[in-house]
Amino acid sequence: MEYLIKQYPLEKGALEIQYLEEFFGEFPRKKTAQEIINRLNGREYLILMAEAPLPDDPGMTAPVSFKVVHEIRANEHEPRLRDLVDRLRDSVKFEDRKVLYSWIGGTRSDWRGQGHFRALTEESEAWAHTVGFHEVVVKTKNKFYDMRGTLDHLEFDVVKYEVDAQDNRESKVYLSKKLTSEVLRSHRSLRTVVHAH
Ligand SMILES: CC(C)(COP(=O)(O)OP(=O)(O)OC[C@H]1O[C@@H](n2cnc3c(N)ncnc32)[C@H](O)[C@@H]1OP(=O)(O)O)[C@@H](O)C(=O)NCCC(=O)NCCS
Repeated sequence: MEYLIKQYPLEKGALEIQYLEEFFGEFPRKKTAQEIINRLNGREYLILMAEAPLPDDPGMTAPVSFKVVHEIRANEHEPRLRDLVDRLRDSVKFEDRKVLYSWIGGTRSDWRGQGHFRALTEESEAWAHTVGFHEVVVKTKNKFYDMRGTLDHLEFDVVKYEVDAQDNRESKVYLSKKLTSEVLRSHRSLRTVVHAH
């Protein structure tokens, strides 16, 4: 199977994700277009969506999966990102390296298990390697079993575990992957990437 991936510029991508998340109605923390723009503005980022044929109308395609990754730096000023970097500092080296954060993403339930998220992840890794990132980090929770299983298959390594004393299912898991050329060689999805304007 060949995956069709669209790469979006900031405003258009942010609106598409807002729409998609509304439409899915199942993601835990929906982001507004403005939040996405505020977060990504002024930093390196990639907004990707996978499109797939609609079962009722195979001539038409619709976005079924998305992924947003962005740069994080040692000296973040935005409070949430500063907090993230502070929590990761003992586990990830930021100085003199480019570190990417895999921020948000998901696949519509009817299209899960078909490789769309792997295709987006592999495309983001190929891009990241090309523009000089050394490592990609991601945060999830114990209770997000689908995402944990997926990150396991995508060979992310746990770098930190933060226990929630009240409820262990809420405990945070931080994972990372070094973006070596070996990682790129291990990619297996066939992808066509088009740029949305
Ligand atoms: C996690 C999620 C993005 C996976 O998307 P997907 O398009 O179904 O993933 P893919 O089909 O590309 O699968 C990628 C790999 O993960 C594996 N995988 C996918 N879902 C899995 C699951 N629930 N358990 C174990 N492995 C899983 C696949 O087998 C595949 O491995 P392989 O390529 O080695 O065969 C999707 O389930 C989702 O959107 N979940 C809800 C979002 C969420 O949990 N958010 C939490 C916030 S962190």
